[in-house]
Amino acid sequence: MHTLITQPPQVAWASGLLSGAPLIHKSTRIADLNGVFADRNAWREFDPQQVVYDVEMFDSPSPEGALYTGVTHLQPGKVGDEYFMTRGHFHARREQGEVYCGLRGTGYLLLQDAQGEARIEHVFPGSVHIIPGFTAHRLINTASEVLSALAVWPSAAGHDYAALAQGFSVRVIEQGGQARVQEKTHD
Ligand SMILES: [Fe+2]
Repeated sequence: MHTLITQPPQVAWASGLLSGAPLIHKSTRIADLNGVFADRNAWREFDPQQVVYDVEMFDSPSPEGALYTGVTHLQPGKVGDEYFMTRGHFHARREQGEVYCGLRGTGYLLLQDAQGEARIEHVFPGSVHIIPGFTAHRLINTASEVLSALAVWPSAAGHDYAALAQGFSVRVIEQGGQARVQEKTHD
């Protein structure tokens, strides 16, 4: 009998940097977020290649039942008065949940159910977010440093962006130096 002891991959909690295993990296730029921010004129004034967020994840096997682990690094900034945020998504497999953990910086996790009911959780180093199934999720950086959050999600979950073509039902803007939640007006 010989029990194998191996070195697992690692996350540096303070920075969210992953190491020790092959990684997949994807950057999302201003140009990729057409229609996501309310102020289209302000959006057009940005360098289209400016990175809004990076996602780095372990390139791990993906059979049914497996879990993915990754980190989102969301830059600070605003388009007009609206804070930088991730596109946000439902899972293609709606019943699949996810866990986020705040690592660095502060911000909000916007959650929205299928009926359009929104709620927000504070994100901070050490915060743990149990995202249930049937719930869309988006990170919002309300501070002036990078917001990094670790995520663990089922490989079978997939992403459905189209279901949020009309966006989330609230926006988070800066007003008088404070983050303020704005209910979206329908016209
Ligand atoms: Fe997700």
